[in-house]
Amino acid sequence: MSITSPRFGDDAKVTINSVQEKKQQGTPITCLTAYDYVTSRLVDQAGIDMILVGDSLAMVVLGYENTLPITVDEMLHHVRAVRRGVRRALVIADMPYASYHVDEKQAVKNAARFLKDGGAEAVKIEGGEKRVSLIHRLLDAEVPIMGHIGLTPQSVHMMGGYRVQGKSLAAIERLVKDAVALHRAGVFSIVLEGIPREVARIITEEVECPTIGIGAGPDCDGQVLVINDILNLTDREPAKFVRQYADAGALISGAVKQFKADVESKAFPADVESYHLPRETQADLETIRARKRAMTR
Ligand code: KIV
Repeated sequence: MSITSPRFGDDAKVTINSVQEKKQQGTPITCLTAYDYVTSRLVDQAGIDMILVGDSLAMVVLGYENTLPITVDEMLHHVRAVRRGVRRALVIADMPYASYHVDEKQAVKNAARFLKDGGAEAVKIEGGEKRVSLIHRLLDAEVPIMGHIGLTPQSVHMMGGYRVQGKSLAAIERLVKDAVALHRAGVFSIVLEGIPREVARIITEEVECPTIGIGAGPDCDGQVLVINDILNLTDREPAKFVRQYADAGALISGAVKQFKADVESKAFPADVESYHLPRETQADLETIRARKRAMTR
């Protein structure tokens, strides 16, 4: 086993330490979600620092109304696929709703499955100060943790919908307390979702661990977006904070329509897209068929 510190070049494996180092250096941290082998491979090869197998999977891939129904087993299936596609990025698995809310012992077991069976290198849990005791248990079990506060989608019913959080002075104070509590408890980074940029800035200055924003403005230490949103592979209106970098939805739809038209017009497949018999077999086959035809006349 090597006891040298990891290399922090472009191709060096990203670790929770190198992510934290980036904050100290003032270098922005990049994070995207991914849910399958092919996409995670592309994201990794593009040099993204962290790949989050988010429970947004429930909505953007599996078609659920919100993130609540997805299970640990369903998440694990995708975490394993992502793991197979990634060499360099840090792979983080989202703990789904009710997998860490009921019982801390069960929560540790579930988290350990993401590392042991899924190959994840960290897990993400939603919630602030109320998660401190669980964070201690997870760290005791050697599970690195990413926190997540602000608009926490697993609390959709408690929030009364997907609403920007941290708008009142009391709510700002709560968020800052939550962030500081998470940092003190030992998370290696904190996702700040759906909060005013001014609040994200205060939190980013208050805590030593990196803040990763989504709908939290430009002053966080890094940014995360859902891959389906940036590619327009979604059935919903994008949120204000989403920047669409490509229109894969239009690309796929165009390609599928062209395939349909080509099959229906017999333009596909062409001869060059077909397999052929070797010349001698073809000749033999024609002789046999000609003989058969002559016999049935
Ligand atoms: O589930 C998810 O994709 C997330 C990110 C949006 C942070 O939690």
